[in-house]
Amino acid sequence: MIVLDADISVKVHKAVQDAIQKYGASDDELIPILIHINHDLGYLPSQALEELSVIFKKPKSKIFSVASFYGMLSTTPVGRHVIRFCESAPCHVVGGRVVFQALIDVLKINPGETSKDGKWTLLTTSCLGICAVGPAFIVDDDIYGNVAPAQVQTILARYE
Ligand code: FES
Repeated sequence: MIVLDADISVKVHKAVQDAIQKYGASDDELIPILIHINHDLGYLPSQALEELSVIFKKPKSKIFSVASFYGMLSTTPVGRHVIRFCESAPCHVVGGRVVFQALIDVLKINPGETSKDGKWTLLTTSCLGICAVGPAFIVDDDIYGNVAPAQVQTILARYE
């Protein structure tokens, strides 16, 4: 068990309770609950998974395996802004690789990393469902399509 400071622990507990109150503690609602908590806290802390394990009467490993399966969820802390870059083939063949390299060059971090100032996390994901406008990526809840490498700096500057 990871010991969090009291304020964070209270925040995590509240996020779990809010999600349960909104969706109810039914197995069918586990994913929306995880999404809700992830959105609230920026990721799914170990404490949240433990609390859900008790509420759902399932081993924590089972909750973790659901939480770690979905690209939109994170079980580790992330930056204030999370970029999810589509690495599926349709985006790749229309120039995704060079756009992704532009992101790496501008952010100066590798995929899976968070910048030292805690501002950015760069992740890859499979198809975002907007293949017609590839290359595509998401910054937080904002979707960008038809991105050219030269646009990367301008897009990221919106989050300064
Ligand atoms: S392949 Fe990139 S959005 Fe579908």
